[in-house]
Amino acid sequence: MKPKTVFVCQECGSQSPKWLGRCAECGAWNSLVEERAQESTPSAGGHRYALSGPSGAARPYSEIAIEGNPRLSTGIDEFDRVLGGGVVPGSLVLLGGEPGIGKSTLLLQAGANMARTIGPVLYSSGEESEHQIKLRGERLAVGKAPLYLLAETCLERILEETARIKPALVIVDSVQTVFSQKFQSAPGSIGQVREAATQMLFTAKGQNIPTFLVGHVTKDGSLAGPKALEHVVDTVLYFEGERHHSHRVVRAVKNRFGAISELGVFEMTSAGLRPVPNPSKMFLAERPSNVPGSAVLCSVEGSRPILVEVQALVSTSTYGTARRTASGIDQQRLSLLLAVLEKRAGLNLIGDDVFVNIAGGMTVDEPASDLGVLAAVASSVRNRVIPLATAMFGEVGLAGEVRGTAQAALRVREAAQMGFRRCIMPEANIDPADRSQPGGECELVGVRTVGEALDALLQ
Ligand code: TYD
Ligand code: MG
Repeated sequence: MKPKTVFVCQECGSQSPKWLGRCAECGAWNSLVEERAQESTPSAGGHRYALSGPSGAARPYSEIAIEGNPRLSTGIDEFDRVLGGGVVPGSLVLLGGEPGIGKSTLLLQAGANMARTIGPVLYSSGEESEHQIKLRGERLAVGKAPLYLLAETCLERILEETARIKPALVIVDSVQTVFSQKFQSAPGSIGQVREAATQMLFTAKGQNIPTFLVGHVTKDGSLAGPKALEHVVDTVLYFEGERHHSHRVVRAVKNRFGAISELGVFEMTSAGLRPVPNPSKMFLAERPSNVPGSAVLCSVEGSRPILVEVQALVSTSTYGTARRTASGIDQQRLSLLLAVLEKRAGLNLIGDDVFVNIAGGMTVDEPASDLGVLAAVASSVRNRVIPLATAMFGEVGLAGEVRGTAQAALRVREAAQMGFRRCIMPEANIDPADRSQPGGECELVGVRTVGEALDALLQ
C-alpha cells in the first residue's frame, strides 16, 4: 500500500491533501513540502502523559495543593533573571537565535553549573561531536561536573538516554537536527521539529525534567521550527547581538512563569559568556565628550533601566536624494521624528543625510527613546554639544508634545546612579511636590514640547 502523504507548510505548519503553490493558511509561496502523514497510534495518543494525576479525573481547584516548587538557579544571574528567577522544574524552554551567537556556549555553562548543584545533566548535541563539546567545555571550566554528553540526532535515542541517566536537566542542541524514526521527512522540517518538541514536552512534564531546546533562526526568521514551536513550549528566549560587538542580550518573548521582555545582558569573552550586571556602564563606556550629536537616553527593558548613547550625524547630501539611515532604532520612527523636528522645532533637514546609531549595537524600540533621538539629531544640526552629565527620556507626539512615559522614577534613579546630574523628562512625569526626589542630586527638568526640550539641552 502506498504510504499516505500530506503536504505541510514549512512556515505555519498547516496541512493540505495536495500540493499548492501558495499556502492557503498563511499565504507563503512555495512552502509546501510532502511529508508522510502522521499515523495516529491509539495506544500512544491519549495517555502519553497526564498532568492531572494518575486517575486523570478533574479535581476541585481548592483541593489542589501548591507544591513548593522552588526555582532552580542556573548559576548565572543574568540568565536566571530572564527566566523569571531561575528554571521552573518540568518546564520546556526554547532558546532561539542566529547561528554563532552563543546559544551552545550559554547552555553548556548553565548545564555545567546545574550539574554541580542539582544533579546530572544530559547535553545532547546534533551539531558537534563529544570531542568538540569537550574542547569548548575546557575553555568554560566545566571541570568535574556530572555532565553527560551525547552526540546524537535520533530522537528515540535521546529519549532512551534520558530514561537511563535520569538527568536533572536535559539540553537538546539544536531541535532542527533532531529527527524521529517514525517520520520520513528530513530533520529540520516542520513535522520533525514539532515531533521532537512534543516528545521533549512529554518528558519534561511527565518526569519533571526541565528541558532546554536550542533553535536556529536566521535574520528573516525563515528557518522552519522556532516560530511554529512557540506555542508548544513554556518559555521562549531570544538571543540577540551583533557579530561585531561582544555584548549579547537574551530576551524573554514568552514566559508562562515570569514577566516577558525581561532581559539579560552578557559579554562574550575568551572564557565564555560573562554576565554584565551593570549594562549602562558598558554601553556608555566609550562615549565621546564634547562632540555634537551624542545624547544619552534612559530606556527600560522589562523591569530594568538601561542608559544608552544615541549618536546622530547630519551632513549635506552630495547625491540627489538625502539618505536617512537608522541602526538600533526603527527607520519609520526616525522619519517621523525628523518630520516633527522640521515642522515643530523649525530645523531644516532638506537635502541633508541623517545617520542615527545606538552605540554598542544595542536596539531600543521604546517610544520613550524619542526625545533622545531628536536631541542627538538637533545637536548635530546646530553643532552644539549636549552637556555630558545630562540624560533624557520622553515620547514625542506628532504635535511636537513630549508625553509622559511609564516607569519614570526607575529611569531617573538609574541616571542618578550613573552620575548624571540633569535629567530632561516629560513635565507630566514630574511630581510637583518633589522635584528632585527620586533622583537625589539629579536635577529634574520637565518639558512639555520638543522646543522646550531643545532649549533646555542646547542653550
Ligand atoms: P556558539 O555557542 O557556538 O553559538 P551558537 O551555538 O549560537 O551557534 O558560539 C559561537 C561563538 O562564540 C564563536 O564565534 C566563538 C565564540 N566564543 C567565544 O568568543 N568565547 C568562548 O569561550 C566560546 C566558547 C565561544
Ligand atoms: Mg551551537
